[in-house]
This record gives sequence, structure tokens and C-alpha cells, in this order.
Amino acid sequence: MFTRFVRWLDERMMVSPLWRDIADHPVPAHTNPSERVSAFVYCFGGVTFLLIIAQFVTGMFLAMDYVPDITNAYNSTRYIMDHVLFGKQLLSMHNWGSTLIIIMVTLHMLRIYWMGVYKKPRELNWLVGVTLLLIILTFGFTGYLLPWDEKAYFATQVGVSFVQYVPFIGKALFNIIAGGNHIGAATLSRFFAIHVLFLPALLLSFLGLHFLMIRRNGITGPY
Ligand code: HEM
Repeated sequence: MFTRFVRWLDERMMVSPLWRDIADHPVPAHTNPSERVSAFVYCFGGVTFLLIIAQFVTGMFLAMDYVPDITNAYNSTRYIMDHVLFGKQLLSMHNWGSTLIIIMVTLHMLRIYWMGVYKKPRELNWLVGVTLLLIILTFGFTGYLLPWDEKAYFATQVGVSFVQYVPFIGKALFNIIAGGNHIGAATLSRFFAIHVLFLPALLLSFLGLHFLMIRRNGITGPY
């Protein structure tokens, strides 16, 4: 019954050629840690990707109870921790996940650098990777403000203040990022929108590019 439904759906959607292309694509033997222990370095990118998926899932559940305005943000975060079913675990996973992603993406970058994979023909993918790194860091920076506690407020104040030192356009830049001349209600709305709408869209687009280029160029090695 289920198989017939899938076949019926596939006749209309034609997704199986695309899916088979992804699922049947062989992973090169030299990237398999059971063949060579040192091959575990090839897993760092994949682990980063898995962590990103976990961030999406936990973030979606957190967004159900988080209220992005300055009167409710702190209380809604406390509410998630104290009253929502598995809320504390979700928030902790989201928090730890962000740190782990930065660790894994750094290890992934080091593997690429150490093996010289940034060279032709993968230099464009290295640049896409650098953009991914900036997106990941911006996720961390915008997410840090969301609990709207003292630590979040003052850390953001310090972080955003740096842009004021950019010659000529520093003040204007501060106003654009903060949504005014101080960190306040507009900053929180802005950071929330960037964190849950702009950055996920950007991240998914650049990940798509990253993976497409990996398929086109293949994975380097064996060394
Ligand atoms: C969101 C973060 C990222 C994810 C999820 C990701 C994911 C991946 C995956 C799954 C691979 C396949 C092989 C492997 O895992 O080593 C890969 C390869 C690659 N990544 Fe990333 N990556 C990310 C960030 C970066 C960054 C920051 C750079 C460099 C600045 C980078 C540069 C590359 C390059 C050049 C390759 C090709 C490697 C080869 O051909 O051996 N990536 N990435």
C-alpha cells in the first residue's frame, strides 16, 4: 500500500532520480575511517552539517515559546527553561550545539588548510566555505542577544560598538546594525529576524553551493 503510494507520488514528482543520484553516489574509500583510521578527518564537514540540522530542529521548537520583544524575551526564556516540556534540554542542546559547530567547522577548515585543498580547482569552494564560516559566526552573535539578560545585553553592546571605529561610516553602521543609536527594542527584533529568517536562508543557499561544488570536484586524496 505504502510502496504503491510512493510509486504514484514519484510518477508525478519524479524525485527518485535525484534521490538515487545522492543515495547511490559512492563515498571514496580513502575517506572511510574503517579503512584508514586517519580518514576520520574527512568527517568534520559532515558532522558540522549534522549539528546544523540539530540546531534547526531545536531552534524551531524554541521559537514556539520564545517572545522576541524586550518586555517578554527574558521571561519567555525562563519559561522555556522552567515550564516547557524538555525546554531546558532543548535550550541546552541549542546552546552547546552552537559552540560545537564552531569547534567542528574550525577542525574542518584546518583539515582543508593542512591538506592544501584550497588550491585549484577548489579555491571557489574555499571562498564559499569562508562565507559559511561568517554566516555561522553571525548566527552565534545574533543568537547571543536573544535571552535579553545582562550578559547578552552588554556582550552585544561591546560587539556592536566595534563598528563605530570604522572610518567615516562607523556611526551609520552602528545605527543600521542596532536599529538606532543604542542597543534596544529595535536591536532585539532585528537580531531575531536575522537569526531565524535571513541567516537560515543564506546558510541553506551556501550549503547547497558548497555540496554542489564538492560533487563537481570530488573529494581530495588519498594522501
Ligand atoms: C557550515 C559549515 C560547513 C559545512 C557543513 C561543510 C561541509 C563539508 C562537507 C560535508 C565536505 C565533504 C568532505 C569533508 O567533510 O571534509 C566539505 C568539503 C569542503 N569544505 Fe566544507 N563545510 C563547511 C564549512 C567550510 C569552511 C569554513 C571551509 C573553508 C573556509 C570549507 C571548505 C571546504 C572545501 C575546500 C571542501 C572540499 C574538500 C575536498 O575536496 O577534500 N568548508 N565541506
